[in-house]
Formats: sequence, structure tokens, C-alpha cells
Amino acid sequence: MQTIHTINELRSTLTSYRQSGQTIALVPTMGNLHDGHINLVDQARRLADITVCSIFVNPMQFGAGEDLDAYPRTLAQDSQRLTAANCDVLFAPTVSEVYPEGLQEQTVVHVPGISARHCGASRPGHFDGVTTVVSKLFHMVQPDHALFGLKDYQQFQVIRKMVADQCFNITLHGVPTVRDQHGLALSSRNGYLTASQIETARHLYRQLSLVASDIRQGNNNFSSLENNSCQYWESHGIRMDYFRICHYQTLQPMTELTDDELAAADHCVLLLAAFVGKTRLIDNMVTSRP
Ligand code: PAJ
Repeated sequence: MQTIHTINELRSTLTSYRQSGQTIALVPTMGNLHDGHINLVDQARRLADITVCSIFVNPMQFGAGEDLDAYPRTLAQDSQRLTAANCDVLFAPTVSEVYPEGLQEQTVVHVPGISARHCGASRPGHFDGVTTVVSKLFHMVQPDHALFGLKDYQQFQVIRKMVADQCFNITLHGVPTVRDQHGLALSSRNGYLTASQIETARHLYRQLSLVASDIRQGNNNFSSLENNSCQYWESHGIRMDYFRICHYQTLQPMTELTDDELAAADHCVLLLAAFVGKTRLIDNMVTSRP
């Protein structure tokens, strides 16, 4: 695997691959790689000749008081995992390589509407940081394919809109969430949790599964499903940021849909963000409706 830190070197390397007719898949990450990330690399290798994984802890998507400084940076270990996964190129730029004029002077890519809800409401500016850096990575790498995890469901839908609106000639792939054997979604932030907090966090998946199965069986009482679930989680020591049952594409809460929209919504997504101790976790589940 080739490790590259500058945009110039990345461009010259990828140009030669492209000129020899090879296709490129990009897996953007912030590093501290776990099996969820490696699964994206495995899927990328099936889609294209060359797999590029980027590792960049993007300061623009962290709010004041969030965990930018504490975010785990484990480049040597990540590089070993990517080599073992047969990744071709690791792109690990510095902050000044990505933002040479500083964050204040950076042109912002803003996706309206969908990025204001849910995590966007709790973390103002977060999705602007995500779409700005992903758009920059797309221009740097010019991949044929880009892969994202559905663990970050709203992020995927926001990026999907950006790709459509900005006419990026890139095929996006949303890859299902990788979980541990108890259903806890793998996340770099799980590393902040103690053993007993991990036990607590497992209640997230348990209750999501129950709600999904209720909805599949025709339960339409979304607000009581939301309220009862929040009570369940809070009673297990989880502080809820939000839990909403939403249309799976627009991410509008089901309770806000018109009767016609509701009748046409054949799938919904259960979206949550919650604090276990000081750690903010997100999870989701897509479910069909009868
Ligand atoms: P990061 O949190 O490192 O995640 C990188 C990619 O891995 C994202 O597409 C995310 O959805 C996916 N991922 C994380 N955990 C996963 C799991 N358990 N199962 C499946 N996929 C999982 O998301 C980001 O970084 C950043 O916002 C980024 C897109 C790189 C922009 O900075």
C-alpha cells in the first residue's frame, strides 16, 4: 500500500492509474479504523480496481466543546489494518494541506433542508463540515465510486443530495452497519466507553429492533413508540438527544407527514442520538411498513 500525504502526489499517482484504464473507489474516514471501516474497504475492492482510503480528522465538522482534540488518532495501527485489507492507497493529509487558508477562509458546501434536522439541529454546522470536506476529497481523488456506512444514515442522505445537486459523476454506495455480537454499532467513539457503559449502550439496538418489528406489523402510533422508547432508554441510564421515526429518504418525522405521504411511505428509518455518560452515540434502523 502506498501512503500519501499531499494532494500533488495523490493526483499524480491516481492520474497514472486512471490513464491505464483503472477505476477508483474512495472510502473516506477519520481513522481509528474498526471492522465497520474495513468492511467498506472490502466492498470497495469489489467495485473498482484501485481502493483509496482517506484518513483525516476533519476539524470543520466538530463543534466547539466537542471531541476534536480527544478524537483517537492511530495512523500506524490504521495503516497496518489497511495493508492487511489490501487497500492500494492511504491518503492522510494534514489540516493545512486540506485547509491551507484556514477554516474561516474555506468555501463552504451547504446542503439545505435535510442537513438542518436531527444531528444537524443538535450539532449546528456539523454537516457543512462533512459536505465541505467530502466535496474536497471527491475533487482530490475523483473516484468512480465512493462508499459510506449507513451507520451515519443522515450523513449518507446529505451526501447523496450533495452529489446529485453538484452533479458529481460518482456512484455512491451505502453499506449496512457492522455491529458487535450484541448489536452495538461499531464506532470509534465506543472506545470512550467503560465496560458497564457498553452494556448500557446495547439497550439502543434492543429497543430499536422491537420498534422496527412493531412497525413492520402495522403499528402506526409513531409518537407513542417514540415516547415509550425514550422512557425505556432513560430508565436504563441513557440520556436521549433525539429519537424520531422518519421517512427513510426525506428524514421527515412520520408524525409530520400528510395522510397521502404516510400512505406512500413504504419504509421508515428509526433515527437516534443518545449520550451514554459523556459519549454521544448514534444509531438507526430501516424498516418496511405493511
Ligand atoms: P468515520 O466516523 O471515520 O466513518 C467513516 C465511514 O465509516 C463512514 O461512511 C461511516 O458511516 C462508516 N462507518 C462507521 N462505523 C460504521 C459501522 N459500524 N458500520 C458501517 N459503516 C461504518 O463518517 C466520517 O468518518 C466522517 O464524517 C467523514 C465522512 C470521513 C467526513 O469527514
